[in-house]
Amino acid sequence: MTALQEKAKDVLINNWREKFTIPCANLYPFQWKWDSGFIAIGLSYFDIEKAKIELNTLLDAQWGNGFIPHIVFHTDNDSYFPGAKFHRSDLHPLASKTHKSTGMTQPPVLGFVLEKMYQIAANKNEFLSYIESVIDKVYFNHEYFYNNRDPKNEGLVYIYHNWESGTDNSPIWDDIWETMNPPEYEFERRDTTHVDASERPSKREYDHYLHIIEIAKKHNYDDVKIAKHSPFLIQDPLFNAMLIKSNESLINLYKLIGNNLAKIQQLENWQVKAKNSFNAKLFDENIGAYSHYDLRNEKLLPYLSSSSFSPIFANIPDQNRANQMVETMLQKFGNENQYLCASFDPTHQRFNPKKYWRGPVWINLNWILYNGLKNYEFDAIAQRVKSDTIAIIEKNGFYEYFDSRKEKHETGAAGYGGNDFSWSAALLIDMLEN
Ligand code: GLC
Repeated sequence: MTALQEKAKDVLINNWREKFTIPCANLYPFQWKWDSGFIAIGLSYFDIEKAKIELNTLLDAQWGNGFIPHIVFHTDNDSYFPGAKFHRSDLHPLASKTHKSTGMTQPPVLGFVLEKMYQIAANKNEFLSYIESVIDKVYFNHEYFYNNRDPKNEGLVYIYHNWESGTDNSPIWDDIWETMNPPEYEFERRDTTHVDASERPSKREYDHYLHIIEIAKKHNYDDVKIAKHSPFLIQDPLFNAMLIKSNESLINLYKLIGNNLAKIQQLENWQVKAKNSFNAKLFDENIGAYSHYDLRNEKLLPYLSSSSFSPIFANIPDQNRANQMVETMLQKFGNENQYLCASFDPTHQRFNPKKYWRGPVWINLNWILYNGLKNYEFDAIAQRVKSDTIAIIEKNGFYEYFDSRKEKHETGAAGYGGNDFSWSAALLIDMLEN
């Protein structure tokens, strides 16, 4: 391991809490779904047993319908809002009886995480038996998505809350907020006691976030009713690309295990349908990449974000489209004053390079894009994403997100949000191994 990898390893060791890893101290004191997946990849390089425990702990919180929640509240820590008491996962009849959680989910990364861990594992046979012990739970989770989150049977699943996207306050959602007028909730924010308010969502944005949860709670987190009543109903290219990539990995892993023909067949059917619809519905010629589809208002939301390029990670576009996407990326996000890859279009008026998902660079998206660019043999650009990622971490530390403007990095104060952030550390370890 290099010196930087050793530092990353220390971040993960410090963020370990008996059976799972927190994303970072103070700000995020519980277990988050997609964080856990990325973290397990990093852990696998130096403690694969811990990586297994990380995933097992998350999977223990799976619901009776296959759903895996976005936050599992393992402790009664009240330094986080909204916590378990607000979310009330117990309202759903099939929610876990042993774990409190939210009633929403996050991008389905576990399939490709398992495959990646298999590639890292020194003892393949032993790791394959571990995979055998958990893979059906991940398959069950995919079945949940296709059976409950795809009302038009298109092979594309929806998210009903911006927190399900993982890209919490993306400017894309502003269009949805314009269709809503939630009450002014009274609550005590905890995030802004840990992090500068200029780097976090606004109070009014939080009103919208809470209001959608109130609607879902009113319907006891029933998917059919949520699909009918949620003002936020989006087919997100990042979320669906994660699902498609994970389908692909599950197919590979079931083939390694042997048997399981019916599941492989089902996964292959989902793949064909999902990729066709994805390409037909989510590619936006006007912006030269994929965008988000608003199912509630039946229209594409015509914005470029780092999510727009994530389908290259899941082998979704053909080579021509991939060329077009990379051209768009370089043109809009890639001028020499910017680090790759800003989370939102730097040429757009809604771009804000300091504020969370409205512009800063995030390491997990860079990792996804780096691997996607390599899939299509854009080696030089992949290399640029990798060296940008290393540079911003070396200059600032393992922050949650980073200013995309290079000039801001001269002082070493261009890392924002939480520090010693787990997935920044975990995915850097992996990138440096490549
Ligand atoms: C923020 C991010 C989300 C992440 C969570 C925990 O809410 O937007 O993607 O999972 O923090 O790190």
